[in-house]
Amino acid sequence: MKILQKEKNKDFIVLNLSDPQMNGFEWEEGHPYRPILEYTIDTLIQDNKPDLITVTGDMAYPGQFDSYETFANLLDGYGIPWTVVWGNHDHQEGMEPVLKAAELFKQHPLCLFEDGDPAYGNGNYILAIQEGDTPITALFMIDSHNSVKITLDSGEEKWVYDKLWPNQLDWIAQQAAALKAKGYKDGIMLLHIPLFCYRAAAKMAFPGGRGGDSEIYGQQHELIASHPREDGALEMIQGTDFISHVLAGHDHCNNFMIDYEGVKLMFACKTGPGCYWQSAMNGGTIITIGNNGIKDVHHQFVNVTHLVEGKGINEFVYSWN
Ligand SMILES: [Fe+2]
Repeated sequence: MKILQKEKNKDFIVLNLSDPQMNGFEWEEGHPYRPILEYTIDTLIQDNKPDLITVTGDMAYPGQFDSYETFANLLDGYGIPWTVVWGNHDHQEGMEPVLKAAELFKQHPLCLFEDGDPAYGNGNYILAIQEGDTPITALFMIDSHNSVKITLDSGEEKWVYDKLWPNQLDWIAQQAAALKAKGYKDGIMLLHIPLFCYRAAAKMAFPGGRGGDSEIYGQQHELIASHPREDGALEMIQGTDFISHVLAGHDHCNNFMIDYEGVKLMFACKTGPGCYWQSAMNGGTIITIGNNGIKDVHHQFVNVTHLVEGKGINEFVYSWN
């Protein structure tokens, strides 16, 4: 566990970027994606002066080590500690390229990534925020893997997005209990693939209006691409009485935040045009940590119209057809 120091009388600011997902050729001179991504990140950093930059997965595609390297150099250039969790695309060709990308990242002086216990995947680790010796907030950096085969009721086998593994849920619960016992005030889980409970949260939120007294912010423009079956994650999180927020990437055109059954389930704001996007939803997510733990999470959208116009870049549209 690495400990980061919060300055006295000053909030600790985490800037989360999500799903930059750049192919090698998209970093090349003349391609329109690179200036959009760089301008977005630059704006977010200048505006927020973060103490830490996190990335909720899908940095590139497996084996594209030049892409990982370019991205790592870009982040290192700001002189701010940074780290990542893996996304399904980072994982999609198995563990070997993930481990190689992990080695590559760890050679960067400002990268805080840790492999964690291989029993839970790669990159399950905790970053703790303290002020002096006073514990404040824990960031649970969690590997949400790639895909898994399930058998449908019809007997047909189908590949679907993976869920957090049962032993991984146990590990998170144990860590949360230990951190709580040490006096940490709260925790936030950062991962790539959303948890199964995001589906129920979205159903509650959007068809029936702003349900009950739950607070709902943001938009849903695509289906929730989680594992399709109950994963036990919400129950585990509720049981910790400690992890109060979950921030997921993966769904580039969902950015909602819903207070669902006592846990704030949030989608990160997608950063840059890589893979697919809606340019109006481009930006990052700012997590503000005060003396008593997490006090605010919000998206900052970055207007990139001047870099998009006339470049023929597609916008994602969800359609019945
Ligand atoms: Fe993804």
